[in-house]
Amino acid sequence: MGRDNMRRQQSTRIAVCLFVLGTLVSSSSPISGQRAARPTSVSAQTSPDVSNVIDTYCSSCHNGRMRSPSGILLDQFDVAQVAASPEVWSRAYRQLQAGAMPPVGVPRPDRATVDAVLTSIEQALGAQAKPPAAANGQEIATRLATILWNSAPDATLLQEAQRNRSSDPAALEHQIRRMLADDRAQAFVSRFFFPWLELDKLGNSDPDEKYFPDYDVSLRDSLAKETELFVLSQLRDDRDPLELWSADYTFLNEQLARHYGVPNVTGPQFRLVPMSTPERAGLLGHGSILMVTSRHQHGVDAAYTTPATRAKWVRLHFLGASLPNGFPGAQPVKPELPIAPQTRALPAEPCANCHRNFFPLGYALENFDPLGRWRTHDQVGLVDTSGAFVDGTPTNGVVELRQALLQYPEAFRTTIAEKLIIYSSTGSVASSGTPETLVRARRILRGTSKPRWSALIGAIVQPKSVAGE
Ligand code: HEC
Ligand code: HEC
Repeated sequence: MGRDNMRRQQSTRIAVCLFVLGTLVSSSSPISGQRAARPTSVSAQTSPDVSNVIDTYCSSCHNGRMRSPSGILLDQFDVAQVAASPEVWSRAYRQLQAGAMPPVGVPRPDRATVDAVLTSIEQALGAQAKPPAAANGQEIATRLATILWNSAPDATLLQEAQRNRSSDPAALEHQIRRMLADDRAQAFVSRFFFPWLELDKLGNSDPDEKYFPDYDVSLRDSLAKETELFVLSQLRDDRDPLELWSADYTFLNEQLARHYGVPNVTGPQFRLVPMSTPERAGLLGHGSILMVTSRHQHGVDAAYTTPATRAKWVRLHFLGASLPNGFPGAQPVKPELPIAPQTRALPAEPCANCHRNFFPLGYALENFDPLGRWRTHDQVGLVDTSGAFVDGTPTNGVVELRQALLQYPEAFRTTIAEKLIIYSSTGSVASSGTPETLVRARRILRGTSKPRWSALIGAIVQPKSVAGE
């Protein structure tokens, strides 16, 4: 048999598996097709047997016969298995913590049961993980200055290091707050936050002139400035990282205020503006992010927002849960027409039964046009923002979407802690999390009573400041 032939057979097999999985998802779903239906929740046992939970809620699909396309097998859960395949189990951990598995419509374990399972997986993964290497004062000072300023430690930081004060968490956090207040902390935003949030792509996100003849390139600089000032203010006020998504203020100049429809802001200088309506709260209301996630993936410039790209962005940046690969050979939609209604009209099999697990995250943002302006209509009619999070919570519009996401605070805290760990050890945000970064992030978060930026950064640069590390 020729190579090509084998390859063809293999890809047919993969396609068949996908279909089988899709069928499974829909046929085991009593409420398939219904919007915002809440799947039944089964109450927690006092001490849930982890393998029972996996058997009940996961193994019918992840069972080795019909393995998922990404090859995740969860059929034989026991603690020894976790240690033997940390990669698989850290991925299962992320999906469970984010509420992203099981898929829409099938019964899911309740919160207490999920928490117990997460704790077991964490312990089993942690038993394997090497503790991070201890660091001396000088090394900690260098790490901090690199992360926060992208430069060398200053005299104050070196003095603190010499006096060996960096092993004291309170003294370390004091230094971190001092450094964040300094102008050099801009480097932390431009080198960590912007690439992580994908805002380094803003320069390539100008819309097609054909559809947006009035677009002014200075707008994207203003949008970037808004996000930069907002993130810096969160860091300097030493907030809980979760408030990146919920804070009820932003920074605007006249150009942006007009763009957003906010009255009484005049002049070119940026200032803090309280947001009286919840639609613009936090990063989900930032035009910068709405603009980079409007760029569409079909190889043609389109006039319309793409729910898939926005959904993927929210999954990765808030929930820390990856998506399956798109369906091979799926027919492209018509880019000259709004995409969201076209994807809503796709048949359940083999399309919408997969999409419904994450597209609603993007549908909820349809009130924002490709430049992040508020709209109630697109070129063909009223926009439809309805949908539900994979756990059944309604997500009709950005406000409900934000509420649904904020039900999973630990998923975001884990996501940001892992990214910071990756950044502090590699100098880049490009790598994905590993079982080791997951275990470290969870230990740090469990050891931090108040999750604030200074405490999080302190624990990352100084492993000893966290109990158990
Ligand atoms: C109704 C069928 C079904 C059930 C039940 C189910 N899954 Fe899945 N699972 C899927 C499908 C479909 C995919 C998507 C394709 C993929 O990524 O492999 C998937 C993907 C995954 C992935 C891969 C994500 C990645 O990192 O690439 C993980 C991990 C996972 N599921 C864990 C679980 C866990 C844990 C449970 C139980 C709480 C569960 N699943 C229950 C169908 C199911
Ligand atoms: C296994 C899950 C899965 C199945 C089945 C699936 N898709 Fe998708 N689809 C995705 C994912 C994931 C994305 C987002 C891909 C990305 O942006 O990386 C996507 C994106 C799309 C988009 C882009 C939408 C936008 O907002 O730009 C279209 C169009 C699409 N799929 C069509 C289809 C069609 C047609 C089918 C059925 C023949 C189908 N898909 C089946 C997972 C799936």
